[in-house]
Amino acid sequence: MQEHLLYWFWLGLFLLVACTQTTDSKDSKSTNDTIGIAQNTVISTSDITFAEHIAPIIHQNCTPCHRPGEAGPFPLRTYKEVAKHARMIQYVTSTGFMPPWPADPTYRSFAGERFLSEQDKELIKAWVRNGWPEGDASKTPPIPQYPEGSQLGKPDMVLKMPEEYFLEGNSEDNFLTMKIPYELPKDTFVRLIEFVPGNRRLVHHVNSHLLFFNKKQKLDVGKWVVDAYEHGNRRALYTDLGILNDDGTYPELIPLVSNYLPGVEANVYPNGVGGWPMKKKGAIVMNDIHYGPTAIDDYDQSYFNVFFAKEAPKRPTLELQLGTLGISDIIPPLVIPPDTIMTFKTRAKVLGDISLLTINPHMHLLGKEFKAWAVTPQQDTIPLVSIPEWDFRWQYFYTFKKMLHLPQGTIIEVEAIYDNTSENPNNPYDPPRVIAERDGSMRTTDEMLQLILTFVPYQKGDENISLENSSL
Ligand code: HEC
Repeated sequence: MQEHLLYWFWLGLFLLVACTQTTDSKDSKSTNDTIGIAQNTVISTSDITFAEHIAPIIHQNCTPCHRPGEAGPFPLRTYKEVAKHARMIQYVTSTGFMPPWPADPTYRSFAGERFLSEQDKELIKAWVRNGWPEGDASKTPPIPQYPEGSQLGKPDMVLKMPEEYFLEGNSEDNFLTMKIPYELPKDTFVRLIEFVPGNRRLVHHVNSHLLFFNKKQKLDVGKWVVDAYEHGNRRALYTDLGILNDDGTYPELIPLVSNYLPGVEANVYPNGVGGWPMKKKGAIVMNDIHYGPTAIDDYDQSYFNVFFAKEAPKRPTLELQLGTLGISDIIPPLVIPPDTIMTFKTRAKVLGDISLLTINPHMHLLGKEFKAWAVTPQQDTIPLVSIPEWDFRWQYFYTFKKMLHLPQGTIIEVEAIYDNTSENPNNPYDPPRVIAERDGSMRTTDEMLQLILTFVPYQKGDENISLENSSL
């Protein structure tokens, strides 16, 4: 059997796999097929087993979503479960379809990122090619355990959707706006709000905000759930939810207090960073919650775990939004004629020294590519995020590994490419029609171009503060 030679960087070493001939090409053939798995360790591909090599990769990168009740369509925990899908796993990992992580890790690396190294992919490939052997089962690492209810600890308050939401088995996506009102004995502070999906199979994403009512406002007016896309604009939506102020103005909203995507844990910022005031009367508004399609009638009743803080936030996070509904114009205006692939730009100047925490690129179904970077007054370019193949389904809030300092006067640049041809399989219209931005309409059949940044004003030393692995 003729096999490919495999070689790659590992621990900064360029490790050439053991072979008899000298070669400089990946396509060279060898009969002695081996893989370097660690510094100075080279194994023959026939020794690759589930127990020793594949299980750790699967447990780390797949099991968080592929376990009972989670978003992945089947569990991937045990040898049996993985073996059953071996060929498919080889395919989806080699194409980069799984694990879903649209951001290019070579452009900017983020906290909690999930992607397979070239070496992991090669290990899976070679293992499947050899008939996916289990190996010595006693060497298989234990299946990871996931806490029920909260990933973070015991919450101070749980706010649950007031009733179960019914999802019709019509195999369609549902985009909804929901509010969960609350009343506390007195104003307080909150450190973190964690979303917990009731029906993990169906809840696909949630973006939520805190809204405060004035003293007189009633909590029980308006609907608690409305279809986000039946309303062409924000005013109609807020009116239906009963959350406009009595004088018709928009209520005070604290943006992005909690976001959720399958497999993503709530990110805890280091002590002293983040948190919000929480007024006595208010609501959590999910704007929006996306349920994936289901072929059978089903229900969801999700909830939020609220963790209070003893004192006012020292460094509350702020938000900067470029593009649609944001501080910067889109150039040219976001109108995409049929049968075109078009590039749009938006840019904004940072007026003070800031430290970035997270970044969230947003487009709808015509999105094709998204890239954002910053240029400092000294003309240094700082890569922010690059999404070479936009995927509407996986819109992460990417958290930087360390606080990212942007000096005063830095320009943030965004370039977004849209594909309004019939080549785009996600195009909602066939034949394509003009698609545009309309008053912040969230309908998937209208478009948006947004870059949302959360940040705190810069303090000396921020660039050394890690945003990974903090706990409450
Ligand atoms: C963030 C959650 C998540 C992670 C992590 C994840 N998956 Fe998935 N996977 C899904 C979802 C959801 C689907 C259903 C297809 C979709 O919605 O795009 C899926 C589908 C699949 C499929 C079926 C593809 C098809 O066309 O039917 C395979 C195979 C798969 N995943 C393997 C893996 C492997 C292997 C890993 C780890 C290397 C992994 N997944 C990591 C969520 C995840």
